[in-house]
Amino acid sequence: MELYLDTSDVAAVKTLARIFPLAGVTTNPSIVAAGKTPVGTLLPRLREALGDQGRLFAQVMAPTAEGMVSDARRLRAMVEDLVVKVPVTAEGLAAIKLLKAEGIPTLGTAVYGAAQGLLSALAGAEYVAPYVNRVDAQGGDGIQTVTELHRLLKMHAPHAKVLAASFKTPRQALACLLAGCESITLPPDVAQQLISAPAVDAAVAKFEHDWQSAFGRSAI
Ligand code: E4P
Repeated sequence: MELYLDTSDVAAVKTLARIFPLAGVTTNPSIVAAGKTPVGTLLPRLREALGDQGRLFAQVMAPTAEGMVSDARRLRAMVEDLVVKVPVTAEGLAAIKLLKAEGIPTLGTAVYGAAQGLLSALAGAEYVAPYVNRVDAQGGDGIQTVTELHRLLKMHAPHAKVLAASFKTPRQALACLLAGCESITLPPDVAQQLISAPAVDAAVAKFEHDWQSAFGRSAI
């Protein structure tokens, strides 16, 4: 499976790239806008923070397919191996087809339904990003959407991977992985919650206390 961070926080990427087996970093326009750093400055910094591990994702903004293709070329001029995120609208689907013909890898984003996600894969997207928490927040079932999308891709577009997005809790992420999805992108705070729990810290502190009491040091 692939684990991504969903962030534009360069410092967080540097810190967590040291700890986690990261496959890369995803961003979206809201995440980039929140940091206020222009995308032409931000993306190379994120690329550098990742080191040689993983892929970077950034999203087009234009409303038309032709505009999205121009945006994609601009983004790829900033970071050459970048994967371009394209919202799965009618224009977005047309853009994914054009970008596929140019050999530019894409991710179909803003996916709220399994059939919508499948269409982006059929158009040529390499990744499809269903929005788990946002589907739940609308009264839908985000995990069910991921499960259906995963099955559809396996049957009809096996080249494409589910990259599940929009998480608020580690439990949502775990449920997606148990549903078989190949990759997830987590905000840094949710990723941190995967390895930090009071019981874990207490267990490690007890080991240290016992060792220190017996041998007068913390190291072996
Ligand atoms: C990633 O592709 C999405 O843009 C992102 O995960 C959405 O997350 P949010 O629902 O927390 O904004």
